[in-house]
Amino acid sequence: MRPSCFITTPIYYVNDVPHIGHAYTTIAADTLARYKRMTGHDVLLLTGTDEHGQKIQKAAEARGITPLQLADRLSEGFREVWKTLGIAHDDFIRTTEERHRTAVYAVYERMRAAGDVFLGEYEGSYCVPCESFWTGLQLVNGNCPDCGRAVETVTESSWFFRLSAYGDRLLAHIEAHPDFISPPSRRNEVVQFIRMGLRDLSISRTGVKWGIPLPDAPGHTIYVWLDALVNYLTASGFPNPGYEKRWPAQTHIIGKDILRFHAVYWPAFLMSAGLPLPERIVSHGWWTIQGEKMSKSKGNVIDPVAVAEHFGTDALRYFLLREVPFGNDGDFSVTRLTECYNAELANGIGNLLSRTVSMVHKYRGGTVPATGGDDPAAVEMAQGAAGLPVVFLRALDDPGRSGRGLLFDEPLQAIRALVWAANTYIHDAAPWDLHKQGNDARLDTVLYNAVESLRIAATFLYPFMPESAGRIWHALGLRVDPHHMDFAGAARWGGYPPGTTLPPVVPLFPRKDPESLPARLTIAAPAQELSVDKNEPGTPAPQSSHGAPASPATDDGFASIADFSRLRIQAGVVKEAERVRKSEKLLKLQVDIGTEVRQIVAGIGRKFTPEEMVGRQVVVLTNLRPAVLMGVESQGMLLAAGADEVEALLTTSAPVTTGARIR
Ligand code: MSP
Repeated sequence: MRPSCFITTPIYYVNDVPHIGHAYTTIAADTLARYKRMTGHDVLLLTGTDEHGQKIQKAAEARGITPLQLADRLSEGFREVWKTLGIAHDDFIRTTEERHRTAVYAVYERMRAAGDVFLGEYEGSYCVPCESFWTGLQLVNGNCPDCGRAVETVTESSWFFRLSAYGDRLLAHIEAHPDFISPPSRRNEVVQFIRMGLRDLSISRTGVKWGIPLPDAPGHTIYVWLDALVNYLTASGFPNPGYEKRWPAQTHIIGKDILRFHAVYWPAFLMSAGLPLPERIVSHGWWTIQGEKMSKSKGNVIDPVAVAEHFGTDALRYFLLREVPFGNDGDFSVTRLTECYNAELANGIGNLLSRTVSMVHKYRGGTVPATGGDDPAAVEMAQGAAGLPVVFLRALDDPGRSGRGLLFDEPLQAIRALVWAANTYIHDAAPWDLHKQGNDARLDTVLYNAVESLRIAATFLYPFMPESAGRIWHALGLRVDPHHMDFAGAARWGGYPPGTTLPPVVPLFPRKDPESLPARLTIAAPAQELSVDKNEPGTPAPQSSHGAPASPATDDGFASIADFSRLRIQAGVVKEAERVRKSEKLLKLQVDIGTEVRQIVAGIGRKFTPEEMVGRQVVVLTNLRPAVLMGVESQGMLLAAGADEVEALLTTSAPVTTGARIR
C-alpha cells in the first residue's frame, strides 16, 4: 500500500482575486505534492477558500451582494486560476460547506468536553482586515501590529479557549520535533512568543453575523480562525470513521504572516481535542513589488494569470521557486523574470532540446542512435544526474529531521547544473565536426548522451514544471507516467531507449524580448519617480517596458533611482577559479552569491592569478544578461576599477552576508 501524504495550502479569503503571493503558496504545495506522488505516495493535496468572517461580510456589503454570493464568485475564481497555473489539487474546500460545519462542531465539542471552553467578557482591539484581536501591549502606535491599520475597540461576552494551559506542552512538542516548524528562524519566533506567556483566546463573536453559529449560544458565531483552521481536519474526513488514514497532515505550507495561528493556536486546539498534530509547518516569506507590499491602492498587484499568459505557466512556477530560498522574502520583478527566462529556460533547457532534436534529425534521420560506447567526457554529467534523487530527498523530505524547511531552489539548481553540463558537453564535443570527420561512433555517443540528459532533466523538472516536462518527453518520443515510475532509477544514465524516432522540433521556451512586455505586466514606478513627469498635467509619465519612467529621465544623462535599482549588485565569494583556455586576460570563476553558484568570466587575468581569487569576497552584477566569452558562458560581471587595465577589485569595507544586495 502506498504511504499516505496529506499536504495543505492555506485557505484563501474570498474578499479579493488571487495575486502572485497566493499563487506562490499554492505552487509550492503543488510542487511538493507532485514530487511525493512521483515517489510513490498516496497524496491528498488540499486547497480552498476561507469564506466566513467580518472581512467577507464587509466586502460583500460594499458590492451590494450577499456574503455567499461573493464567496461563490470568488471561490470559483480561485479554482480557475489554479487550473491555469497547473495546480493538481485533490480536494478544494469551502468553509461554507456542510461537511465543514460538522467538523467544526465536532472539534468544538471535544474542546468543551476537555474543559477548555468557558464564558467570559472580552474587551480588546480588533483588526477587521486581519480578523485578529490584539492586546494594548501588542498594538503599534495604537494600530494593528500586522497591517498597521486602525483597530476597533470591542467589548462583548465571549466564549474563551484555555490557551494559557498549553504553553508548556507546545514548547515540549517543538523541542522534541525540530522539524515541526521551519525554517529555524520562524521556529525561534514561535518559541519566544509562547515563552512570553499565552493568554486565553476568545473563540466566539457576537458582532460577526457571517459565520458558523455556536451551538447552545444564540447570537455567537465561531471565531473565524478556529473555523478556518479546522478545514484541514474536515478534508481528512473528520469526524467520520476513516479520517485517521489522512490525518495528521504531513505538511502545512503557509506564509509567515499566518504562522502564529498555525504553530500556536492550531496545535493547542488539536491537543485539547485529543487529536494528533501535523508533522510539519513550513512557512515562506513575502513577495514585494519594488520593495513595497502589494496592494490595490498602490496599483502594484501582480496578476499571476497575466504573467502566465506572457511567459507560460511553467516559467512562472520555475521563477517563483528558483528566485528566493523558501522562507526568505523576495522582490518580484518582471524584468528579472524575463532575464531569468531567457538565460535559464530559453538558453538553457530550451536550447538543449532544440539543438539536440535538430541534430538527431540532421545527422540520423530523426532516430536516436544507440550510444557508440562509454565517453569519459560524459562521466561527470552522468554522476551529477545520478545524484538528483538524493538532492530532492534532502531538500524536500528532510531525512535528518533538522527542520531546515523546504529547499525548492536546491533541486532546481542541480537540474540547471545538469542542463549546463549537457550544453557544454555538446559544445566541447562539436558534433558538427564529428559529422564532417565521419566519426560516426562518437557522433552516436554524443547524440545519445544529449538526449539522455534531456530525459533525466525533464523527469526531475516534472514536479516544478509539469507541462514542460510533458512537452520534453513528447519531443523525445517518450510516454512517461510520472505517478508510476521508479524515481531513483530514472536518474541512472542509459535509460533512454535508442531507436526512438523523434517528431520535428518545436521550440520550448522562445526568447522573450525584454523591451516588449504587455501593459498588464508593467508596474507604475514609485510616486516620487513619477514627479519628474514633464507631460501635460494629469497624464502619467511614459513607462518603459521595465516599469520605470522612460525619457525624459534618460535623456539628460542622469540615471534615476529606478535605473539604478534595475541593477542587481550583490556580494559574492569566489569558490573556484581557473584561466580560460587560450586567454591571457580571462579568468573563469565560480562565485557563490548566496542563493546559487554563478559562473562568471572576468577580464582580470593580467592582474590576478586564479589562486589569488579563491576565497575572496567580490562584488558582482548578477542580473547582467548572460554572454559567452571565448566559448565560456558568463552569468554576471565582477566589478573592478582601473584607468585602462584593471587595477583593483571592488569589495566591501567589512565582510557581509554572501548574496547581500549593494544599493
Ligand atoms: N484565510 C487565511 C488563511 C487561513 S488558513 C487556515 C489567509 N488568507 S489570505 O488569502 O490572506 O492569504 C493566504 C496565503 O497567501 C498566506 O499564506 C499568505 O502568506 C499568502 N500571501 C498573501 N500575500 C503574499 C505575498 N505578498 N507574498 C507571499 N505570500 C503571501 O491568510
